[in-house]
Amino acid sequence: MNIVVIGTSYVGLVQGACLARLGHSVLCVDIDESKVARLREGVVPFFEPDLEEIVRSEMQAGRLSFTSKITEAVMIQPAVIFLAVGTPQSENGAADLQYLKAAARDIVAAVQSTALVVIKSTVPPGTSKKVKEWLGSDFEVASNPEFLREGKAVSDFFNPDRIVIGTTSDRAEQLLRDVYSGIFTQVFVMSPESAELTKYAANTFLASRLSLINEVANIADHVGANIKDVEAALGADPRIGNQFLRAGAGFGGSCFPKDVLALDHAAREHGYAPKLIAPIMEVNLGQTERFLQKIYNRFDNIEGRKFSVWGLAFNAGTDDVRESPALRIIEKLLERGAELCVFDPYAMASGRLVLGDKVTFAPSMMDALIGTDALLVLTEWEEFLYAPWNTIAELLSERVIFDGKNFLPHKDLRDVGFEVFGIGLN
Ligand code: UDX
Repeated sequence: MNIVVIGTSYVGLVQGACLARLGHSVLCVDIDESKVARLREGVVPFFEPDLEEIVRSEMQAGRLSFTSKITEAVMIQPAVIFLAVGTPQSENGAADLQYLKAAARDIVAAVQSTALVVIKSTVPPGTSKKVKEWLGSDFEVASNPEFLREGKAVSDFFNPDRIVIGTTSDRAEQLLRDVYSGIFTQVFVMSPESAELTKYAANTFLASRLSLINEVANIADHVGANIKDVEAALGADPRIGNQFLRAGAGFGGSCFPKDVLALDHAAREHGYAPKLIAPIMEVNLGQTERFLQKIYNRFDNIEGRKFSVWGLAFNAGTDDVRESPALRIIEKLLERGAELCVFDPYAMASGRLVLGDKVTFAPSMMDALIGTDALLVLTEWEEFLYAPWNTIAELLSERVIFDGKNFLPHKDLRDVGFEVFGIGLN
């Protein structure tokens, strides 16, 4: 099938490249000419495991191409056009739909109305109707939200838990079933509004689960319980489940914070004021503060104190630092006059764009430790787990580790003589 994907960021590029791997002919469109030029050379402008290899091999096989001109779409006469442009958070918390609107305008100017327009971007319920209005009555519009995790996006694409199709049209449903015919999973067909709400609800559910387990970890700190033991026993109940139950110094990323606020905003716009949604983000921001408080309590004076920081990315497996708790923690320590030496295996360039020369960027995790008092571990990169702790004990002037992800082997570290702080670990 001939397919156009508009937008080549995390969602659009994974969608385009993986659809090509399924055997479709895919044209990816992006208004950013320099990005398109790099993609044409096979360079993916962000780190996502396996993606660059797929982009290169699919380009070579002639199934994947890139352009900055939507007018080229007309040449391949696409059966389906995916809209995968950004829907960033606007000042009032609503999703900003300006890029979606611009893309719709471009489609009308360039493509025949026989193409099915599918919204892949995360959008508030009711957006499919708006897009149809922008496109005019000839176009059919469907919703097909994505549930990809950064760092695992390619594997999530090929092994999804479900595919959600939002349409009331048999033709649109069949086209989307054909698009994904190489993938074996449950398909849920529903109205576009339900599909759009499913996406927001999924992210809000997951974020609420994290804020709830973080609250339990805070209680564990107060009552002298161990959150790791609690997580294990809680997760054994199939009604609760053991995934996404790891407490820490807060969650981040380009999706949860934005989508939780956008759902709250969308509900209020439709006359319903949710009570449980806003506190999810309050708890999350408070979580970073609670973690910082442990550092302030341990070291009376932060001014002039030197810390090494391992991890800038909001999640392991990505170089994305958007809304990363690591950056929030770093900024607060800098405000108090700390000196920081940071390392991340993949997110150094993106970290540098945000932090500039306010911190020192170390060439390796071991170099980051030299001349520092204590270590902060803020992203769950596997290599941090297997660090040479005996050597590290000699490098830090005080043997203190703050684990923002509760993922290090605390008992082993204590055996080597470290003082270790996590969240809710007694
Ligand atoms: C999320 C959704 O999982 C995905 O389905 C949706 O399409 C986009 O938003 P993403 O934000 O890329 O994906 O990563 P995810 O793995 O969900 O992690 C989000 C944040 O939660 C990270 O900061 C991660 O460290 C944190 N997290 C995750 C925890 O703190 N504890 C956990 O148990 C799991």
